Amino acid sequence: MNRKLLAILAVGIVLLTSCVAPPPVAAPPAADVAAPAEAPKASGTVTVYASPQEEWVKAAMTQFTKDTGIKVDYVAMGSGEAFTRISAEKAAPKADVWWGGTIDPHIQAVADGLIEKYCSPNAQAIPAQYRDPDCYWTGMYVGFIGFTVNPGLLEQKNLPIPKTWADLIKPEYKGLIAMSDPAQSGTAYVIMATLVQEMGEDPAFEYLAALHKNISQYTKSGPGPITLVGQGEALIGINFVHDTIMYMKQGQPINYVIPEDFDGYEIGGLTLIKGGPNPEAGKALIDWTLTAKAQELAATANSFQVPTNPEATVSEESVKISDVKAIDYNLVWAAENRKRLVTRWTNEIGPLPR
Ligand code: F6P
Repeated sequence: MNRKLLAILAVGIVLLTSCVAPPPVAAPPAADVAAPAEAPKASGTVTVYASPQEEWVKAAMTQFTKDTGIKVDYVAMGSGEAFTRISAEKAAPKADVWWGGTIDPHIQAVADGLIEKYCSPNAQAIPAQYRDPDCYWTGMYVGFIGFTVNPGLLEQKNLPIPKTWADLIKPEYKGLIAMSDPAQSGTAYVIMATLVQEMGEDPAFEYLAALHKNISQYTKSGPGPITLVGQGEALIGINFVHDTIMYMKQGQPINYVIPEDFDGYEIGGLTLIKGGPNPEAGKALIDWTLTAKAQELAATANSFQVPTNPEATVSEESVKISDVKAIDYNLVWAAENRKRLVTRWTNEIGPLPR
């Protein structure tokens, strides 16, 4: 081969190799490839502190065990009690998941270092406003505050059905209203935080002092007032309307009112407790709870909160956000101020004469 021909061939090879993709890097021998770390398989028993109505908790936990083989040990308790218990167990946590309950104490638990960050793959399906961008909590439902009324007994007393928050402090309802105790119930704290955010703190405390005069009983749990209204021990309750709907379906002679002036709402929280006995099973329960199929179980167990997974069918019975005049409830503010506002209520309102 003469020199000229060699030069032409060399230029051709350079041109060719510069136009084609670089050759693939040779794969290392199989033995050198690190196997992807396999997530530990969830099994055994998950321990749960559950704050929704027990009928739903029972149905959900039974189905979770059927679907995953993981057993569930649950204890039903209100949001305030769950927060107190998880705080008290900080040094030796006994539960893996806090399932449901108003979000404010969940967020307070995050701030107190009681909650483990967990980015569930299924949280991607939940709209951003219902979950923490840092993955410490995810919302599993939404519920709205309202009034439970006993129309028959109100009529007997010639009293109108209250339509607004302003109506509730009218002297004609003295001793006729029940609500839960802000120091124990997540529901009552949502009520208080809603009033403070809407009215400003001092006017809201003036309102709470006026309301106190009309209160016959503060109950431990959020749905507690509804039974009292059904039995005629109170004629009006302040609580989440999904709970009123549950008791209406059980035949109580009650109805609900959505306040016409403004309304507050809860996000039902879901968190992984830091240092719990079986975190992998806890994560599996969180993943499962965020699926549409799991969230649809609520309505079959008479729980009419609105699911946070947009793929889940919303029951016709549920009150939806479009039905209420919801304030722009600031969750983070509500959580940061919970301890302070509850203490203020306990010192300033609880002891007032009625
Ligand atoms: O009964 C269900 C429910 O209303 C939930 O929607 C809510 O998160 C929880 O109860 C609040 O209960 P409590 O006021 O007793 O903390």
